Amino acid sequence: MGLFDFLKKKKKKEDAAPGSEAEEAMEAAVLDDSQLEGIEPPETRFTEEYREYLAAQEAAGEVQGPAGDGEAEAAPASKDKEREERKMKALVAYFSASGVTAGVANRLAEAVGAPVYEIRPAVPYTAEDLDWRNEKSRSSVEMKDKDCRPALADTDAPVAEAEVVFLGYPVWWYREPSLVDTFLEAYDFKGKRIVLFATSGVSPVGDEAPARAAALSGAAVEPGKRFPADVSGEELKAWAEGFLR
Ligand SMILES: Cc1cc2nc3c(=O)[nH]c(=O)nc-3n(C[C@H](O)[C@H](O)[C@H](O)COP(=O)(O)O)c2cc1C
Repeated sequence: MGLFDFLKKKKKKEDAAPGSEAEEAMEAAVLDDSQLEGIEPPETRFTEEYREYLAAQEAAGEVQGPAGDGEAEAAPASKDKEREERKMKALVAYFSASGVTAGVANRLAEAVGAPVYEIRPAVPYTAEDLDWRNEKSRSSVEMKDKDCRPALADTDAPVAEAEVVFLGYPVWWYREPSLVDTFLEAYDFKGKRIVLFATSGVSPVGDEAPARAAALSGAAVEPGKRFPADVSGEELKAWAEGFLR
C-alpha cells in the first residue's frame, strides 16, 4: 500500500465511530480522492505518520529486507538515504584577516555539514599591513600587482576529497585578496565546482571574480554572493544546498 492510501485509510478510520460499520468497512477500503479534504501532504508531518506507515507496511510484509528478491521497490527510507548519499561532497575554505569571513564560513560549514579549512598566509597580516589608506602598506602593495602570490602557511586543504568548494574571503580593493589567488593555483581543482562567497564593507563579489577564479583554478566557478557579517545559518544553508545536488 502506498503512503497516501495509508493516510487516507487512517483518516477515514479516525472519522468513523469506534466499532461502527464504517470503521469495519475501512479495513477493506480506502477513500477516493474527493475525500482527501483535511489530509495534509505527508511531508509536512513526515516523522510520526511516516514511521506508522512503515510499521504497517512491515507488518503487512510489504517491506523487502536485504534478503528480499530485489524486485520490490526500495522502501522510501532507503531512498532518502540514497538521496542523502548522492549529495555532493563539500568543503568550505576561507581566508579571513579580521574574523568576519571566518564567522560566515564556520556557520556555512555547520549548516551544510562540511569540513572547514582556513587559508592562512605564511606571514600573518598585521593591522599595519591591512591599512588600505596607506598606499605603501603590505595589502596595498600586494593588491596593486595582480601577479602577486603571497605564500601560504600550508597546502593541507582537503580539496581532493571535495566535489564542491565554497571559497570565502573579504573583498579587498573590489576583488579577492592575492592570497586567495595563491590558493587557487596551489591545488588541482579540475572537475570540481567552486562557489565564491565574500564579506565586505559594501562591495559585491563582482562580475570579474568568477572568471578570474576559473582561469586560475581550472574549475567551474559559480557567480558568488556577498553576505553580511550576521547572515544566519538558515540563510546560508538555503543558498548552499542548491549547489550540492
Ligand atoms: C586591505 C583592505 C581592502 C578592502 N577593500 C574593500 C573594498 O574594496 N570594498 C569593500 O566593501 N570593503 C573592503 N574592505 C573591507 C573588508 O572587505 C571587510 O571589512 C571584510 O568583511 C573583512 O573580512 P575579514 O574580517 O574576514 O577579513 C577592505 C579591507 C581591507 C583590509
